[in-house]
Amino acid sequence: VTVGDDDGTAGRTPGQRAQPPGTPRLTRRRVLLGGGGALGLAVAAGAGYAAGDAGGPDPTAPENDTVPFEGVHQAGVATPAQARLVFGAFDLVSDKAADLQELLHTWTADARLMTAGRPTGAVAGEAEVPPRDTGEAEGLPAARLTVTVGVGPELFEKGGEDRMGLRARRPSRLAPLGPLPGDQLDPARTGGDLCIQACADDPQVAFHAVRNLLRAGRGLVEMRWMQLGFGSNTKTTSDQVTPRNLMGFKDGTRNLNVDDAGQMNRFVWVGADEPQVWFRGGTYVVARRIRMLIESWDRTPLGEQERVIGRGKVSGAPLGGHAEFDTPNFKARGPIDVDAHIRLAAPQVGDGEAILRRGYAYTDGIDPRTGLLDAGLFFVAFQRDPARQFIALQRRLGVNDALNEYIQHTGSGVFAALPGVRRGGYLGEGLFA
Ligand code: HEM
Repeated sequence: VTVGDDDGTAGRTPGQRAQPPGTPRLTRRRVLLGGGGALGLAVAAGAGYAAGDAGGPDPTAPENDTVPFEGVHQAGVATPAQARLVFGAFDLVSDKAADLQELLHTWTADARLMTAGRPTGAVAGEAEVPPRDTGEAEGLPAARLTVTVGVGPELFEKGGEDRMGLRARRPSRLAPLGPLPGDQLDPARTGGDLCIQACADDPQVAFHAVRNLLRAGRGLVEMRWMQLGFGSNTKTTSDQVTPRNLMGFKDGTRNLNVDDAGQMNRFVWVGADEPQVWFRGGTYVVARRIRMLIESWDRTPLGEQERVIGRGKVSGAPLGGHAEFDTPNFKARGPIDVDAHIRLAAPQVGDGEAILRRGYAYTDGIDPRTGLLDAGLFFVAFQRDPARQFIALQRRLGVNDALNEYIQHTGSGVFAALPGVRRGGYLGEGLFA
């Protein structure tokens, strides 16, 4: 089945809706199940119903496996963490605001389609031209794909210059992170004018999204670095069982809860106090590629591992407590050491430092210089103010954290994740108004 031809997306120009609103949409899964016609839709609907009958809702049914693209905020922040991540950082090769605008227009149109489980255009069109959509997501469900786009500080100011006439519109808290204690950053894995965080329950769907957006932006953007993540590493909702990171510890026990709107408004979403009105509803994302020195961690006795984190390995309970969600006892001379990770990471200035962590494990094979595993945590955190939240935390951790003996921060980026897209609108629209 040639999806692009059948579902009306072939030949579409960026920003144009492929089908009138209200038309039943063909998803990749529906097309696979029954072709493009009415029969196909009936088969697809029947398949979802049957699966639901047998044992609860079918997670691959289109209504369950798509995350709405439009809203006040972008998806992919408060969305319960999907299993996989592809994070891309890009450089804009132009210094013209109109080019940035065109890029965001194109990315919005394509992200809208892909998050609905649809190709960006013809998968098999004319023999003389490369297909618009690269095709590897054909037959796969939408897999709760979210595409979250951010803009970096150097779009607004580079080398002290107002790079493209947008300096006056810079989100008020967007600035380079600057050197932080313990940094061992690889310039090839650091920075970027734009970022895309694609999360999905299927790695091929997430990769397809970033690959096709890169392709659609050809001539305007180049990829600067990219990171794949697996095993969503941090608990982000109250009903989720806490996952484990590659050190074998539960991660996210005391994370913010994405289903708590009060916490999200207080710590994550940029609110009415933001002077850049266009940026209200956005947030700031900090990404850090944190390598774990796994071999040395694996030679460390259990008692020392638990002392370093400040929690029991299997139970996840804070030292001195019994159960995972017991409140840690941070009293001086208490059971948790002065340099334990959770003591230093716990918010100390009131609770204004709290961040939403949404990290993933990564592996990139072995380090060719040493033969050791290159694996760790691709740390992603969302917040209203990087200086008061991530930077304040990392200044403390980077100096004193007992974990530092076992980790290295090797990559970094900070971006203003754009506000959500209204129906018919495009990402970053307010920036150009
Ligand atoms: C590879 C690096 C890291 C590992 C393995 C790691 C692991 C952990 C673990 C196991 C916990 C306890 C469970 C929990 O409450 O989530 C924790 C808590 C926490 N971590 Fe990390 N972490 C790392 C890096 C960072 C960084 C770079 C930051 C921020 C700059 C950070 C901030 C936090 C915070 C805020 C908490 C919760 C503290 C609390 O309120 O109890 N972590 N981390």
